[in-house]
Amino acid sequence: MDKECVLPRHIGIILDGNGRWAKKRGMPRSYGHYVGSDNLEKMCNIICDMGIRYLTVYAFSTENWKRSQEEVGTLMNLFRRYLKRCLKSAHKNKMRVTIIGDPTALDEDIQETIRILEDETAAYTGMHLQIALNYGARDEILRAVEKVSADVKSGKLSGEKLSEEEFASYLDTSLVPDPDLIIRTSGEQRISNFLLWQIAYSEFYFTETPWPAFDTEELNKALDYYSTRNRRFGDAK
Ligand code: FPP
Repeated sequence: MDKECVLPRHIGIILDGNGRWAKKRGMPRSYGHYVGSDNLEKMCNIICDMGIRYLTVYAFSTENWKRSQEEVGTLMNLFRRYLKRCLKSAHKNKMRVTIIGDPTALDEDIQETIRILEDETAAYTGMHLQIALNYGARDEILRAVEKVSADVKSGKLSGEKLSEEEFASYLDTSLVPDPDLIIRTSGEQRISNFLLWQIAYSEFYFTETPWPAFDTEELNKALDYYSTRNRRFGDAK
């Protein structure tokens, strides 16, 4: 990484390519998810050690329920395992962890693990990790509109004029600033319903490297790219 690299405050990552990575090795897709999950633990520690303040990862979208029952089951078991391990590393790194998305569709034991993870890490001031689970940006915006409407009905909001800041406070991401850099692995150049409101001024970095193979060298390439964009344009807002 360039010595003068300007670090993004908040990175969002679309973790893509687990299945293709595994197939290429003659292995089942579930193996790709397994290695992808381990890589997330590793990269999260590296990103935390670099001093990045906020990291958001897209682990399971509202559309991912359409995958085969077997694949959804594998992913849910990986989330169970990951969330428990995440609690340990959160205590170690004083990392705050929150979930964005609608957890109500997840099994009760996963919801309970999420409650523990969020409660036990709520006061930590190290990196803030947001895990997008059963997340879709359109769903998030609709849920926010419903909450706004309920507050107008109860008289908590006037219903006359709503500022961008007020609306953003109803989104799942209300605890963190907007992402500065979005990384998508594995070649696709789409946003796939990730943080649609929040990416208004983000930089984008797309790489052919699939998520299980995304390492420090790849991360440094993304950070160098961000740094050059930032030096050229300064604050795009
Ligand atoms: C896309 O890869 C990735 C996902 C649907 C889920 C992301 C999940 C992980 C990185 C592992 C588990 C995560 C946690 C938080 C434990 P894909 O399988 O769609 O790849 P493909 O496009 O090659 O098929």
